[in-house]
Amino acid sequence: MSTLILPSLMCADQLHLYDEVNALLDAGADMIHIDVMDGEFVPNIQIGTEVVSAIKKEFDIPLDYHLMIQAPHRKLDYFPIGPGDIVSVHYETTPHPARAAAHIRDKGAKALLALNPATPLSVIENVTECFDGVLIMTVNPGYSGQMLIPGCIDKIRNAKELLPDNCIIEADGNVSFENAKKMAEAGANALVCGSSSLFSGKFDYKTSIKKLRNL
Ligand code: DX5
Ligand code: ZN
Repeated sequence: MSTLILPSLMCADQLHLYDEVNALLDAGADMIHIDVMDGEFVPNIQIGTEVVSAIKKEFDIPLDYHLMIQAPHRKLDYFPIGPGDIVSVHYETTPHPARAAAHIRDKGAKALLALNPATPLSVIENVTECFDGVLIMTVNPGYSGQMLIPGCIDKIRNAKELLPDNCIIEADGNVSFENAKKMAEAGANALVCGSSSLFSGKFDYKTSIKKLRNL
């Protein structure tokens, strides 16, 4: 499986999302990463259900949902989740992560367990078959522009060893061109690209995606 390049929409120009999604797809992005934030699990509030539904309706593309919301097991039906989508729910937000994963799979989508930096990988070891992979937060969730927590690279490496080869190992946070190489070498096969690379303003989207693919 080649590494998925997943632009983080919260880092795009919020006044021109239609143009941004078009430009990112034209530049070769694999899926758009949608950071949904409820102001409870994380202090920030981002990308609501209406915006997501409008994107789905207009572009009819698979989306990479990152649900940073409390009790996601009760709110999955708020979103237009369907075949081809990837949905990450945070271990820290529900007593029923495996049940949430089953609900996501019932909709035809892939279910990832998202882990905050301080959450050990061991929380998934008894339920790996309930998930299609993990989203490993390499920064504290909630904001773009934060710095990598170096110990999280080891968590990527350990996830690669623990999980079946066909699993998605998504790295999310400070995926700079330098860090992307380390994350991919450690075993990440999906990279969430935000202000540290794709939206850094240093290169256009096409050039940035090419650089990330050639790492
Ligand atoms: C943070 C989000 C990330 C973030 C990435 O909670 O999950 O997707 O937008 O942005 P950078 O690359 O700036 O860390
Ligand atoms: Zn994210």
